Amino acid sequence: MGTVTDSLEEQAALGSGATFWTTKAVGDVPSILLTDGPHGVRRQAGSTGDHLGLGRSEPATCFPPAVGLSQTWDPELVERVGAALGAESRALGVRVLLGPGVNLKRDPRCGRNFEYFSEDPLIAGALGAAWVRGVQGQGVGASLKHFAVNNAEDDRMRSSSDVDERTLRELYLRAFEHVVTAARPWTVMCAYNRINGVYAAENTWLLSTVLREEWGFDGAVVSDWGAVRDRVAAVAAGLDLEMPGGNGASDADVVAAVEAGTLDATVVARAADRVATLAARVTENCSSTARFDVDAHHDLAREAAARSIVLLQNKDNLLPLTPSALAVIGGFAVRPRYQGGGSSHVTATRVDVPLEEIRRYAGGHQVTYSEGLTADTLAAAADADAAVVFLGLAAEDESEGFDRTHIDLPADQLQLLSAVVQVQPRTVVVLAHGGVVALDGVAGLAPAILDGALLGQGGGRGIADVLFGAVNPSGRLAETVPVRLQDSPAYLNFPGEDGHILYGERVFVGYRWYDARAAAVTFPFGHGLSYTRFDYTDLVVVSGTEDLTVRVSVANTGDRVGREVVQVYAGLPASRVSRPPRWLAGFAGITVAPGALADVEIRVPRDELGYWDVQAGRRLVEAGEYTVSVGASSRDLRLHTDVTVDADVAPAVTFTVDSTLGELLGDPVAAPIVAAALASAVPEGAAGSALGTDMLRMLGSIPVGRMVSFSGGAVSRAQLTELLDEVNRQRS
Ligand code: BGC
Repeated sequence: MGTVTDSLEEQAALGSGATFWTTKAVGDVPSILLTDGPHGVRRQAGSTGDHLGLGRSEPATCFPPAVGLSQTWDPELVERVGAALGAESRALGVRVLLGPGVNLKRDPRCGRNFEYFSEDPLIAGALGAAWVRGVQGQGVGASLKHFAVNNAEDDRMRSSSDVDERTLRELYLRAFEHVVTAARPWTVMCAYNRINGVYAAENTWLLSTVLREEWGFDGAVVSDWGAVRDRVAAVAAGLDLEMPGGNGASDADVVAAVEAGTLDATVVARAADRVATLAARVTENCSSTARFDVDAHHDLAREAAARSIVLLQNKDNLLPLTPSALAVIGGFAVRPRYQGGGSSHVTATRVDVPLEEIRRYAGGHQVTYSEGLTADTLAAAADADAAVVFLGLAAEDESEGFDRTHIDLPADQLQLLSAVVQVQPRTVVVLAHGGVVALDGVAGLAPAILDGALLGQGGGRGIADVLFGAVNPSGRLAETVPVRLQDSPAYLNFPGEDGHILYGERVFVGYRWYDARAAAVTFPFGHGLSYTRFDYTDLVVVSGTEDLTVRVSVANTGDRVGREVVQVYAGLPASRVSRPPRWLAGFAGITVAPGALADVEIRVPRDELGYWDVQAGRRLVEAGEYTVSVGASSRDLRLHTDVTVDADVAPAVTFTVDSTLGELLGDPVAAPIVAAALASAVPEGAAGSALGTDMLRMLGSIPVGRMVSFSGGAVSRAQLTELLDEVNRQRS
C-alpha cells in the first residue's frame, strides 16, 4: 500500500468525515457514504442526519432485527438477508452498511439487546460472519460493531466496562474475533464506552494489539458516531476514521500534534491510507446503482420472519390452527411492533398486518378483533373456536440509548390474558419484544405461545404462516428466558455505579450461569418446539489430534416435514479453571421429511474446547475427559459421550521464588529434583522429615521463596536459587 498523499493536512482530513454520513473526497480518494444498518438500510436524504432514528429515511426492506434473526440459528439464511441488504445499499448509493452488532446480551435489561444476536459468542460469531459475507459479497463494506464490551446503554458514552482478561477473551471478544478472522469485514466500529478505564477509541491494546496484530484485521477502524473524545489519542491508538464529520477542528489537532512531535507522522499517514483503501474497495466493488427488487425482498423478509419465530409452548397440540372462527385480541395485531428504536430504525417499504394475514387463512370463518379488555372482547373470545392474544412491549418501553429497569410485560396485558383464558381455554399468545420478558405468568395461563421477538416488515405473514402450519416453526431461543430478573447473572452489577460496570459474573453469562447454579429457567437457551417430533440416536464422536467430528442420527417421528437445530455442547468436569458445566460447541440445522432419518455431522474445532489461559497469554486446550452432549436445547440433551482429548503444548513456565511447592511437585520434571532436595535438606527425625500427604497439602501453597525463613536456616537463599536454576535448566 503506497502513501495516498504526502500532505499531512490531507492525511489528517481523510481521517474524519465530511458530513454526518460521508467521508471527504481528497485528491483521488472519493467520498463514500456510510449508513445504518443492521436490519435495513437507513439512508437519510441530504447531508444532515441523525443517529437516533429521528429523521426519516428512504424506504428500504426492514428484515427481522438481530433478536429475531438470531432465532433462526441459520447462517445460510442470514447470509441471504445480508446479500439483500447489500443489494439495497448499492441501489441507495450506500458504500458501508453499519452492522452487524455482535455484542453479547450480558443482561436482559440492556436497551439495545434487540440489535444483538445472542448471549452466546458462538452463535453471535457465526451469524455475524454470515451477515458480513452476504453484505460484502455485494461489494458493500460491513462495519462490525460495537468493538467492544458495549453491553449497556445507560451512560454508554462514558462508562467503563471492568472485565478480567479471561472473560474478555473467552466471551466478549470471541464473536468479534470469529467475524474478523472468518469473514474479514472492511471496517470495524469502535464502541463508545471505556474498557478497564480506557476509551475503546483510545485503546491501543484493543485496536492495534488484538485487532490488527493478533487477528490480522486489514480494514479501517471507524469510530461510533461521536465516540472520539481526543482525536490525537485515538489516532495514536489505531483509529482511522472519526465519524460523524465535524468542522475539521480535530484534523487541525492531528496536524498540530505531529508538528509538535507528540504524534508520529507515520501513524497519520497509515490511517489515511486505510481510509483510502476502504474508499477504493467499495467504489471498485460497488459500481451498480440498479434498483432493488422490492417484492422479492419483501418475500425474503417474510421467509426470515417465519423462520425466526419460536414455538415456546404448545399444550395438547393446540397449534397449528385449522381454519375456524377466531378472536384476535391486542393492538399489536393491527399495529405490529416489528423493529427497535434508535439508529437502526428503518422506513419499511410495506408492513404486513397480522390481523389481515390471519383473516386470509381463516377460510371465510369469522375473525373478530378487539383492542383490549371489554365485555365484548370476552364474549367474542368465548364464542370463537380459539383466541389469539398479542402481547409485548411498546416502542417506548425499550430502545437504544437507555436500559430497562425490569423485564415484565405490562400488568394490564396479563390481566387481559387471564380473563380471556377463563372464557376461552384454547388461547394462543403471540409475543413482540426486543429484550427478553419474564414469561412464567404467561406460560402458566396460555397453552400455546409463539415468540416473535421483533420480526421486521414481514412479521404479520410469518406469524399467520406459523399459526396455521404453512410453516412448521423451527426457531430456537438465542437467549435464556429467566424466571425472575433477580436470577440473572449480572443482576447486582448492572448498569454499574460511578461510571464503572463490574463484570463480576465473569465467564458465567446466560445459560452458562443458570446451568452452573442449577437454577430454574422459564425457557432455556436453544429451546424451540416444532409441529413434528425428532428422535436422536447413534451419537459418535471422533476425536483426532485436531477437531472433533460429532455424528448423530435424527429421525422425524411426526407427520410433517420439519427443521431441527441439532446442538452440540461440550463440558470438562475436571477443568483446572472455573468453567460452566457445558457450553455450545457447534450446531447444525437439518430438514427431515416425516418418517425419515437423517445423519448429521458437525465439526467442532478443537479451539472450541479451550479456555483463555492468562499466564500463557493464549487459548489452551486442557487434557481430559470431555463430555459431549447432543440435543434440542441446553436443557434437552438427548445423548452424551465422553471423549479423551490431549493437551495443547503449553508454553514453558519458568519457576521462580514465587512458585509454590505444590506447583513444583506437580511438574513431572521438577518434582523428583525438589523431592530429593527436600529429603537432603531436612534432617532425619525433624518434623519436616515426616512429610505426610496432609503436611504436603498444607505446605503446597507456600511460595518456595518463603521456605528460607520457615526452614529456620535449613534452606538458604543460595541453595534455593541453585535448585530453581537446575529445575528450569532441565525443563527447557
Ligand atoms: C450507534 C451506532 C450507529 C451510529 C450511527 C450510534 O449512536 O451506536 O450503532 O451505527 O450511531 O447512526
